[in-house]
Amino acid sequence: MRFTLIVSKIFIVSLFLFQISNGSDLISKNCKEASKRDPDIITYDFCVACLEEASSKLHPPPTNLEDLLGILITLSKNNATNVLSIISKLSKDKSLDKFAILTLQECSDLYEQSEFYLDRIASFLKSKVFDNVSSYLGGIRTFSDVCNDDLSAKWRGGISPLSKEYQIFVQLIWISNDFVNIITKS
Ligand SMILES: *[C@@H]1O[C@H](CO)[C@@H](O)[C@H](O)[C@H]1NC(C)=O
Ligand SMILES: *[C@@H]1O[C@H](CO)[C@@H](O)[C@H](O)[C@H]1NC(C)=O
Repeated sequence: MRFTLIVSKIFIVSLFLFQISNGSDLISKNCKEASKRDPDIITYDFCVACLEEASSKLHPPPTNLEDLLGILITLSKNNATNVLSIISKLSKDKSLDKFAILTLQECSDLYEQSEFYLDRIASFLKSKVFDNVSSYLGGIRTFSDVCNDDLSAKWRGGISPLSKEYQIFVQLIWISNDFVNIITKS
């Protein structure tokens, strides 16, 4: 009786450990592949860190690549919302010139459009329409590049005030795109 109890406890614990290691294998394997595909944009450490942090809060944990993609889309949406709130704070600065103000407005439109696209992507993912996931991700990539280029050109000092946020956001989007390509084997 006692023995069976111990054995079953060991069984449960090892099942649990197996699941954890399975989850991080899933993350490290695919992050390795994504950083190999786009070494100039994606760092392996960033990919692993953000997915492991987000996965640790999920019950049940992610078990496949589509789950990880879903996590990335949620993170991207939250990041876009965060960028929009930074833009709205920056816009209150009375010392900005006309061009900076116009570019902030443009960026605000672009990130709102990205939020809208990310919602669409979430529903494409549910119905597994991966072609559309891919093309909408391409659109978002363009939006964030345009904002970053224009803001860098128009901002005093030539450095966009959103460059740190941009670095994170583009990585999330590129990793997502690589994951779609891995899923569809393209
Ligand atoms: C943006 O993404 C990063 C990296 O995954 C994450 O750690 C952070 O919490 C996100 N920011 C917001 C506001 O969701
Ligand atoms: C996918 O995109 C195509 C082209 O934009 C569109 O015609 C189609 O309706 C989309 N599929 C879904 C499920 O929305």
